[in-house]
Amino acid sequence: MGDRMIYFDNAATTFPKPKEVYDAIMEAMKEYGANPGRSGHKLALKMSREIYKTRELLAQLFNVSNPMNIIFTGNCTDSLNIAIKGLLKEGDHVITTSMEHNSVLRPLHALKKKGVDVTIVQADNMGRINPEDIRRSIKDNTKLIATTHVSNLTGTILPVEEIGKIAKDNGIYYLVDAAQSAGVYDIDVEKMNIDFLAFPGHKSLLGPQGTGGLYIREGIDVEEMKQGGTGSASHLLDQPHICPDRYESGTLNGPGIVGLGAGVNYILREGIERIRKHEIKLTKHFMEEVLKIDKVKVYGPLDIAEHGPVVAINILGADSSEVSYVLDEKYNIATRPGLHCAPLAHKTIGTLEEGVVRFSFGPFNTHEEIDIAIRAIKEITLEL
Ligand code: ALA
Repeated sequence: MGDRMIYFDNAATTFPKPKEVYDAIMEAMKEYGANPGRSGHKLALKMSREIYKTRELLAQLFNVSNPMNIIFTGNCTDSLNIAIKGLLKEGDHVITTSMEHNSVLRPLHALKKKGVDVTIVQADNMGRINPEDIRRSIKDNTKLIATTHVSNLTGTILPVEEIGKIAKDNGIYYLVDAAQSAGVYDIDVEKMNIDFLAFPGHKSLLGPQGTGGLYIREGIDVEEMKQGGTGSASHLLDQPHICPDRYESGTLNGPGIVGLGAGVNYILREGIERIRKHEIKLTKHFMEEVLKIDKVKVYGPLDIAEHGPVVAINILGADSSEVSYVLDEKYNIATRPGLHCAPLAHKTIGTLEEGVVRFSFGPFNTHEEIDIAIRAIKEITLEL
C-alpha cells in the first residue's frame, strides 16, 4: 500500500524509513533479542552494547559530551512530561509559547492546577516568537523556559539560540521540544544552551514508533516519573539516581532503539545538511506553486529561511478534513487535517474553527510528488 501513496505526513511520523532501519530491527529481534542490562550473558551484553551505540550516535548528533545523559523513552511526549513534571514544583514559574503542542501545554496546564505559575508568550500570526517577549516574562521564580524548535503547524522556526542565551543569562533552565527538528536542523546543546532536549525517535530521526529520548544536562535533579527495575543497585528499594537508570525502569524497547540507531547513522552518513536542503527545496517548490492557486490560503511565514518542511494550507470555503479526505481517497496523497494537537497555535494563526490541511515533507519525497499534489489541489479547488 505504501508504494502507491504519496506520503506528506512526515511531521506525524516519517514513512518510509531507510532500509537499514528495518534490517537493524529485524536483526535485533532475530539474532540477539535479549533483555539489555539485566543478565551478563552474551546476548544480553550484545543488546546492551547496541543500545549504547544509539546513545553515542545521538550524543554525536546533538553534541552531548556524555551519552549517559541521554535517556530513552517511548516518545517525545514521555520526554517532555519527565522534564516538565520532574523539574517544576509548586511556586515555580515557567515560560512557554502559544506555538506549543499539547505535549507541552497539557502537562503545564495540569501543573498549573498544582500551583505552578505558567506564562504563555504569544506568537505573531505567522507563528513567530520575539525572544524579547520571553525575556520580559521572566520573574524571580522562573525556573524553566520551554519552547518548540519548529512548529508542527506552520513550520515556523523559533530562535532557540537566542532564547537559550536569555535562559542562561538569567540562570533559568531551557527545555527544547525538538519533535519537528531533530534530524533536520543542527542542534548543539552546548551552543544553544539547551538543558533538556526532548525528541521523538520516529520522526526525522527515522527510527520506529515507540522510541524517543531526553537529554538532561548533567547535575540537574529531575524527579523520575516511575520507579522499578533498572538492573542496577537491585539490593536497594530506593530508585538509583544515576543516569540513565533513574529514568529507564522496565525493559527498554531494545529492537526499536537499535532501529533508531540505524536511523541516526543514516542521517550522519548522508549528512543532516543534505537532508535539510532536500526537504527545504521541496517545501519551497510546494509553497511557490500552491501560492499561485486561486482560493488557497497558506499560513505561516512565506520566507523559506524561517520555515521548516511543514506547510499549512486551506482551500477557502472547504473543510480541512474533507480536503484531506479527497487527497487520500482520490489522489493517494497522505496529509493531516484538523488541529494537529496544537490548539493555541491554531488560535494564533486564526484557524481554531476550521483547522488546516498540513503537508509535511521527508527525505524520501520527490519534486515529482510535489507536482502531483499541486495538480490535485488545483483540481480540488475547481470541484469543491
Ligand atoms: N505531533 C505529531 C503531529 O504533529 C503527531 O502530527
